Amino acid sequence: MKHIAIFASGNGSNAQAIIDYFNNHVSIDVALVVTNNPDAGVIKIAHQQKIISAIVSRNFFGNEDSMNKLLNALNIEWIVLAGFLQLIPDFLLHKFPKRIVNIHPALLPKFGGKGMYGNKVHEAVLVNKESESGITIHYVNEKYDEGEVILQKKVLVDSNESAESLSKKVQHLEHEWYSKTIEQLLK
Ligand code: GAR
Repeated sequence: MKHIAIFASGNGSNAQAIIDYFNNHVSIDVALVVTNNPDAGVIKIAHQQKIISAIVSRNFFGNEDSMNKLLNALNIEWIVLAGFLQLIPDFLLHKFPKRIVNIHPALLPKFGGKGMYGNKVHEAVLVNKESESGITIHYVNEKYDEGEVILQKKVLVDSNESAESLSKKVQHLEHEWYSKTIEQLLK
């Protein structure tokens, strides 16, 4: 079994899709959910699925010994970011080379970077009058949304599109592609 940890800060719809996909999987197991947000929806999701969850303070998350203890205890081999709002510290990048992935709700390198999250991304796409948007799955490096791209999928932006309607289309793609891509990478 390969054990993965999901790091998430928000609603957790991607975390839910990934957990569902790997439920009873032959070789991949979601062993841990980590969040920095005590109100994150992902805590309830983990609880319902009997997956260990950890709410970590900024100090804990930034401390190599603390994080090593947590991740080693569960033999975590891969980290999947699903709407996680903190920068990944260098010690984790070194511990998991090319084994930390992120999903972004736009076609990077456009509309990425610090603060570009959720509806802010979709609003920026609309303000810029883009004809298409989509998702980017990429390796994580020391900068927000800048690691090597693994997969992109596109959606058309309609003339009467709102941030909410675009968000729905993009989330649909996220839920469809993130788990499959993780499965391919771990094979
Ligand atoms: C997702 O749309 C994900 O792409 C985005 O956060 C959302 C989390 O939704 N991530 C970023 O914007 C990273 N810069 P969820 O909590 O429902 O999975």
